[in-house]
Amino acid sequence: MINEEVVMNDIYKFPSDFVSAQFVKYIEQSEIENITKSLAATLNERYKGEELVIIGALKGSLLFLSDLLKHLQNIKVYVDFVHLNSVGRDKESHGTITLNKDIKTNVMGKNVLIVEEIVDTGRALHFLKSRIQQSSPRSVELLTLFDKPYKRVVPLKPDYIGKQIDDQFIIGYGLDLEEYGRNISDIYYLKYPN
Ligand code: IMP
Ligand code: MG
Repeated sequence: MINEEVVMNDIYKFPSDFVSAQFVKYIEQSEIENITKSLAATLNERYKGEELVIIGALKGSLLFLSDLLKHLQNIKVYVDFVHLNSVGRDKESHGTITLNKDIKTNVMGKNVLIVEEIVDTGRALHFLKSRIQQSSPRSVELLTLFDKPYKRVVPLKPDYIGKQIDDQFIIGYGLDLEEYGRNISDIYYLKYPN
């Protein structure tokens, strides 16, 4: 639910491409912290005493993953990264996913957890999960901080979801609009142009 109509102020001067863009504060950093701790608690139960290969999807999951990792306990955690490229993505992907960077870890027989910051059409994670499954892991689960389930074009159900969000394009806390906004601590939605 959007209840706070605060347009971002001058602290976040937009690059010239976004001179007329308006962003409205949507989710506070403190709420993200609570969500992250709760997700970590669930994982601490699920993977207690086990090994877990966590695969972060660059670049958007960077901030979320680093915060999540700090709360994981009694799990032997390995961390690796992929960098996927959604062809045609600006605010919408158009279908083709390519791999900019693959994992180096051998996941055969391992528990794998893929960590994303947001699932939209589901194409990126569908592609990644299928790829990982080809390497015969023991298990593969998907965790996303944010989810837009009504935007799905491929069937994909994350195992852990931090928060379902409205039909808005959001930036901040790792999420970007054309590389802008990843460093902003709170989440803002793009009010204009939409
Ligand atoms: P999908 O393949 O459509 O599910 O795309 C997922 C990827 O698109 C995410 O990992 C993000 O990088 C990007 N994305 C989707 N929605 C948003 C958004 O609202 N803000 C920023 N990036 C987004
Ligand atoms: Mg991503």
